[in-house]
Amino acid sequence: MLGIEHPIIQGGMHYVGFAELAAAVSNAGGLGIITGLTQKTPEDLAKEIGRCHEMTDKPFGVNLTFLPTVSSPDYPGYVDAILDGGVRIVETAGRNPQEHLPKLQQAGAKIIHKCTSVRHALKAQSIGCDAVSVDGFECGGHPGEDDIPNMILLPRAADELNIPFVASGGMADGRSLVAALAMGAEGMNMGTRFIATKEAPVHENVKQAIVAASELDTRLVMRPLRNTERVMNNAAVERLLAKEQELGKDLKFQDIIEQVAGVYPRIMMEGDMDAGAWSCGMVAGLIHDIPTCKELIDRIMGEAESLVADRLRGILGSPS
Ligand SMILES: Cc1cc2nc3c(=O)[nH]c(=O)nc-3n(C[C@H](O)[C@H](O)[C@H](O)COP(=O)(O)O)c2cc1C
Repeated sequence: MLGIEHPIIQGGMHYVGFAELAAAVSNAGGLGIITGLTQKTPEDLAKEIGRCHEMTDKPFGVNLTFLPTVSSPDYPGYVDAILDGGVRIVETAGRNPQEHLPKLQQAGAKIIHKCTSVRHALKAQSIGCDAVSVDGFECGGHPGEDDIPNMILLPRAADELNIPFVASGGMADGRSLVAALAMGAEGMNMGTRFIATKEAPVHENVKQAIVAASELDTRLVMRPLRNTERVMNNAAVERLLAKEQELGKDLKFQDIIEQVAGVYPRIMMEGDMDAGAWSCGMVAGLIHDIPTCKELIDRIMGEAESLVADRLRGILGSPS
């Protein structure tokens, strides 16, 4: 469906998913994705897509995140930039992308909608999405409010869906890929793992923070606002959580704006790791190095192959 060699996708990531990373993942045989809204205007996105075409002749996608905001970004403009830029794979996320599907699909684009529940995956299927990315409770970013980990969510999705899906959240290595395939997914989507790669155009401090972190180092913030986000723990997050505890049901977005609004450039570009809350998955506990995207993807495929050929072969029993 996507014209890629390996079943590995790099999910859209705010202030991480620039052309450099998307091109590196696509050149390594996966699917790289540029994060649409990190580009301030549709014109900026058009330029970023142009830069990516200069770095790869392989397919890549663009993420369009539909935010729960009042003053909405110029989504029709971003859709035009995607199509005019020759991109035919779009990862949608957040709110229902339905109103933008006809234009995208008439132009031949494949839509992968990212969702955190079987309910939302079925909705995506019913409105005509081509595939879904099923994001478990482990994931970095927004895991939704149901808290169902992938060990349950993926087989549930497999039981209910007719369209293909990829497993997202907590994926890091060959074991993740084989497990995802075993549970019915066609491949896997990774976020946090791809930040700790040589080509990810973020400050070295971000990569080192992920390598240093264990699976115990993420926190859920903004739950009282029903906008839960899994982030790396740090001083700003501790202040945010203290505020949430103090205000309880009275918490408003304004009370935590300092820790969450507009903090990504300082963290990702300047490496100011305590500037605010930044998305990070529990999978940080499985990340111990900073390979190139090609080294990472080749390693994952090699591990998956030997897992199936050696470790899992035993389940077939001895030949008669
Ligand atoms: C730093 C960071 C920023 C992210 N930004 C976005 C975003 O803007 N839009 C989106 O749909 N998902 C975003 N995500 C979620 C990822 O695309 C992916 O679904 C998630 O990271 C998968 O979980 P994992 O980190 O355990 O691999 C972000 C994740 C991270 C870690």
